[in-house]
Amino acid sequence: MRIVRVNLEERAYDIHIGMDAALGEAIAGQGVSRALIVSDSNVDRLYGEAWEAKLRGRRIAASRAVVPAGEESKNLRTVEELCGKAVDAGLDRGSAIVALGGGMIGDLAGFVAGAYMRGIGLLQVPTSLLAMVDSSIGGKTGVNLAAGKNLVGVFHQPMEVVADLRTLGTLPEREYVSGLAEVVKYGVIGDAGIFDLIESSAARLLKREPGLLEEVVARCCEIKAEIVATDERESGARALLNFGHTLGHGLEKALGYGRWLHGEAVSVGMVFAAEVSIACRGLPRECGERLRRLLEAIGLPTGVAAARPELRWSDLRAAMTADKKRRGASLRWVLVERLGSAVFGCEAPDRVLAEAFARLGTT
Ligand code: GLY
Repeated sequence: MRIVRVNLEERAYDIHIGMDAALGEAIAGQGVSRALIVSDSNVDRLYGEAWEAKLRGRRIAASRAVVPAGEESKNLRTVEELCGKAVDAGLDRGSAIVALGGGMIGDLAGFVAGAYMRGIGLLQVPTSLLAMVDSSIGGKTGVNLAAGKNLVGVFHQPMEVVADLRTLGTLPEREYVSGLAEVVKYGVIGDAGIFDLIESSAARLLKREPGLLEEVVARCCEIKAEIVATDERESGARALLNFGHTLGHGLEKALGYGRWLHGEAVSVGMVFAAEVSIACRGLPRECGERLRRLLEAIGLPTGVAAARPELRWSDLRAAMTADKKRRGASLRWVLVERLGSAVFGCEAPDRVLAEAFARLGTT
């Protein structure tokens, strides 16, 4: 088992990563006496009972609340329902919400923990690769409005994150591969060594080899922990985590939410950002090609033509700009100068962006 510390002074916490039956025991030492496990219908069926028994075995009065699987549950109506269940379960300021599931559950249950009684304890138990390396760490929580995704939310750091890698064994292939896009992202923005490791062991990673997974997940968590510790509220360096996400979010919107998984859209977004980096920041073309080849080897898309041949750059650009305007920001890019080193807040001329879009692959 590995432990990664997120150094946030009085809000500091550990991320426990491993295939160890003892994972999740640390909550017992945090003074929590009552907990509500929030999960979706798929994850509850697989792991809900075991987590309830684990908590009860540590003298924590635990109960479970289950929401339908899928992004549709991530809304204010479900928040109200879950708060009602928290009242029924007798949760008070000394209690905790256990977010057992993927990114949707982490965001939703995390928001309930941040809002209920002005904030109670939160244990993040990510069960997808994407949630393990990204969304369960760093305290971003929230739900969607009809007007857009994640428009209502709070920063609420967990007391602990428990990434039990055994849960990846039941993750559908497409979701696992989608999570690998975020793993590759860490190699590009923060650690060329991880990039080399993923590149040289992609086949073993696709087979979900336990020892390798533990190392790769822990190294991604270390990078995320370091960035979050530097810039908890995203006033600067945390934006680095958005490498590939500006175009990725635009694609998710333009293709219609649900058609592509988040990591699939981010994969294309990273190829695009690498093209812009070649033009604007002197990234060697060979590095952009290595990224494209690695994503293809993993089974991720590197272009939009296959999914949506009629998608025009002007439509995609409009989708991205509208989203940024709504958030009171302008279009800025995370670009790379070499593998393992990125810069945020970059502007890029329209002509370069349009050319980068035209160069995207057809797969
Ligand atoms: N997922 C990006 C962040 O946590 O800032």
